Amino acid sequence: PPIYIITPTYRRPEQLAELTRLGYTLKHVPNIFWLVVEDAVETTQLVTKLLLKLNIPFAHLLAPMPEKYRKNKVKPRGVSNRNRALEWIRANATEGVLYFADDDNTYDVEIFDEMRYTKKVSMWPVGLITKYGVSTPIVKNGTIAGFYDGWNGGRKYPVDMASFSVSVRFLHSRPNASMPYKPGYEEDGFLKSLSPLKLTEIELLASNCTEILVWHTQSKKNPNAMPLDTAKYNSTNLIQLRQ
Ligand code: UGA
Ligand code: MN
Repeated sequence: PPIYIITPTYRRPEQLAELTRLGYTLKHVPNIFWLVVEDAVETTQLVTKLLLKLNIPFAHLLAPMPEKYRKNKVKPRGVSNRNRALEWIRANATEGVLYFADDDNTYDVEIFDEMRYTKKVSMWPVGLITKYGVSTPIVKNGTIAGFYDGWNGGRKYPVDMASFSVSVRFLHSRPNASMPYKPGYEEDGFLKSLSPLKLTEIELLASNCTEILVWHTQSKKNPNAMPLDTAKYNSTNLIQLRQ
């Protein structure tokens, strides 16, 4: 069964670097379909070029964050993108699994082998996140007894976006499932929208959540970085800059 990898992305100097790293990771994974969804009104040429060069089956979609959220201090990052991808999956996919893979995280390809056979929802730990340094389901007798996460926020599912996969068939059985524009509660809101779902039905991967195969890495922003602008990155201009 295919894995639909959903990657929200947006224009900034680090964008091409992040997508290049993720793209070359994904080249090691058989039978995937990469849904790259830009938070933008038009596609970014450097992203288009990278996707063609990588030669991974993909769809390049657009889903700008609604104007009303753009002025918020804490923005619902990647939500319009992920909902757009869910819409695409509902229209185009019948089997397999979906996974929300942000462009800046680090993924051991082993996790893709494991998530591929998800029946409903699978979960596993995420490293390098929050003050605890790891976020994970707490497993007792093979099922979830609770969650370990640096910020609970009254959530039913205090987990990160990178910590779970959902089967496409299960998504089809929940026609109203979607992600809320609610910063901090995107994962929780989406997982709740899949209910009914018992904690005992959640499949635990990464050796019963004892291994870290995914990390919430974040790039350091370079304040002197050039804007992500095709004109500035073509070689003629780079040569001119050197002179
Ligand atoms: C954390 C979680 O790991 C994310 O899964 C969650 O979406 C996010 O918080 C949130 O709730 O805001 P974090 O590293 O803080 O992630 O957020 P980013 O990596 O900056 O953004 C998440 C994704 O959305 C990335 O793939 C990013 O490229 C994309 N994004 C970010 C946009 O499409 N538009 C934006 O304006 C910002
Ligand atoms: Mn991130």
